[in-house]
Amino acid sequence: MMTVPWRTGEVFLLNMAAEFSKPKPTRRRGTAGGTHVPVLLKEVMRCLNPAAGEAVADCTLGYGGHAVEFLRRVGSAGRLVGLDVDGAELDRTAARLTSLGLSTSVSLHRRNFAQIEEVLAGEGLEGFDIIFADLGVSSMQVDDPARGVSYAHDGPLDMRMDGRLARTGADLLAELPREQLAAAMEELSDEPDAAKIADWIVLQRDVQPIATTAQLARLVLAAKGFSQRSRRRPWEVPGGLHPAARTFQALRILVNDELGSLAALLSAAPRCLRKGGRIGVISFHSGEDRLVKNSFRNGLAEGVYQTASTQVITPTSNEVRRNPRSSSAKLRWARVE
Ligand SMILES: C[S@@+](CC[C@H](N)C(=O)[O-])C[C@H]1O[C@@H](n2cnc3c(N)ncnc32)[C@H](O)[C@@H]1O
Repeated sequence: MMTVPWRTGEVFLLNMAAEFSKPKPTRRRGTAGGTHVPVLLKEVMRCLNPAAGEAVADCTLGYGGHAVEFLRRVGSAGRLVGLDVDGAELDRTAARLTSLGLSTSVSLHRRNFAQIEEVLAGEGLEGFDIIFADLGVSSMQVDDPARGVSYAHDGPLDMRMDGRLARTGADLLAELPREQLAAAMEELSDEPDAAKIADWIVLQRDVQPIATTAQLARLVLAAKGFSQRSRRRPWEVPGGLHPAARTFQALRILVNDELGSLAALLSAAPRCLRKGGRIGVISFHSGEDRLVKNSFRNGLAEGVYQTASTQVITPTSNEVRRNPRSSSAKLRWARVE
């Protein structure tokens, strides 16, 4: 039988020393506060090969790292249509593009890339020459405690990239059945202790809502058997994965329906590309990469795409050293007739 230590004495998990789950400051290279270093930039440009006068849909504008390079290459005769669900990031990046003198051929939309067909129709374009998506969250979102995305900063367990969404991470932890929580952790982040963590979540939420990132991080640590006095902290060695990382990833993907949006984008993309158009997608975990790989492979077999990458493209060790957040990036591309 599972022991429920927090039912004896004061609520155990929530009162564990905050110090326990506080991350040691890590040396971070490459990402200054409030910025985002574009991942696989050279490889994206090489594979998608933007030319002067072309129309590009950057489905995940973020800081505009890739968009700036697209704009330089398509020039003033070209066009960049930028999408992002995060209104604050869109505003900041719009100002940045203006300050760089790159805003003339740009239109920005606070839209989910699942709606790319509607965006295209509204733009009055026949199609895009390039569709690009760099999935997941930006460094600005990860580093902002108020967004509640990361176990590394204490904040409300929000996790929404799009503040218009109805349910936060805390809402889902309060509502979802145990089986659904376990399945999400297994399927969306390959969490080996999914069932155990789901048990702890369900028992904990009966006592007190799990409302902050620190509460969830402490709960996962405890569920995985790391005690408050434990000196064993394998995640603090270089390259070590924090025990809560997979739980946070799964919950974030659920909150934002990230795989549903990606499937919708991949299905709509061929209808939104002009003759000779290219699509490139950077993914960061196996669930995303599987969707992209299968979509391009099936598209090739069905004649929707004329060519597609046969090998996944990953960052060089140099890029990973400069920007550790690029380490799990995978780029795939495809091209229509
Ligand atoms: C990894 S960042 C992109 C960074 C960007 N390529 C750069 O170099 O600055 C991903 C961005 O896409 C946005 N995003 C994620 N999913 C989205 C979706 N389904 N529709 C639109 N935007 C999305 C996030 O809000 C975030 O700003």
